[in-house]
Amino acid sequence: MNTILTGDRPTGRLHLGHYVGSLKTRVEMQADPTNKLYVMIADVQALTDNAKTPEKVSSNILEVALDYLAVGLDPAKTTLFIQSQIPQIAELTMFYLNLVSVARVRRNPTVKTEIEQKNFGEGVPTGFFIYPVSQAADITAFKANLVPVGEDQKPMLEQTQEIVHSFNSTYSDVLVQPKGVFPPKGMGRLPGIDGNGKMSKSLGNGIYLSDTADVVQKK
Ligand code: TRP
Repeated sequence: MNTILTGDRPTGRLHLGHYVGSLKTRVEMQADPTNKLYVMIADVQALTDNAKTPEKVSSNILEVALDYLAVGLDPAKTTLFIQSQIPQIAELTMFYLNLVSVARVRRNPTVKTEIEQKNFGEGVPTGFFIYPVSQAADITAFKANLVPVGEDQKPMLEQTQEIVHSFNSTYSDVLVQPKGVFPPKGMGRLPGIDGNGKMSKSLGNGIYLSDTADVVQKK
C-alpha cells in the first residue's frame, strides 16, 4: 500500500512533455487499487513567482484540472485538490522553516537555476526562495511515501528528506520519510517542436493536451 502525492503549478496548460514525464505514470499508479493517489494543483506555490499576476494562477486552476481529467485521472479513484484549500500546508511550512538554514535553501540547485533564469537576483521573492520547504509540507501533510516527479525535482525531495529527518529526531517520529519516483532514463525529457532539448511552456515549443487536431497537425 503506497500513499502517493504529486502536483503541478497552474501557470499554463499541460503539454505532451508533462504527459510523457509524469501524467502517464500517475494514470498507471491510479490503476492499482492498493495505491492512494493525491494530485495537487499547486496554486500557492505558483503564486510565489506570480504574486503580481494572480489571475494567471486562478484562471489556470481549471485548465489544469481539465487536462488531468482528459488524460484519465479519475476523481473516483484519485484525490484531485487545490493547494490553497488546505491552509494547514501553509501552517506546517512555517514550522518547517525553523528547521532549515538560509544557506541550505541557497544551495538548492533547481531554485538557483530558476532564480538565474527569471533574473531575480537579490530581488527574489522570499516565498519563491523557500518554496522547496513548502513542498516538504505538501508531501508530509499527506504522509506520502512516494512522490513521482521529474529529474528537476530531485533537490526538492532531498530537502524534504532532510526536514523529515530533522523533525522526527528533534520532536518525535511522526513524519513519513518519502521517496522520489523519477522517470526512466531518457523518458523524462521530450524535445520541443523546435528541436530544443526540452518541451517547455516558457520556450513556446509545446504541443498542448488541449490543442485541437488541426493545431497539432500544423505544429
Ligand atoms: N514544484 C513542482 C513542479 O513544478 C510542483 C509541486 C508542488 C509538487 N508541490 C509538490 C510536486 C509536491 C510533488 C510534490 O513540478
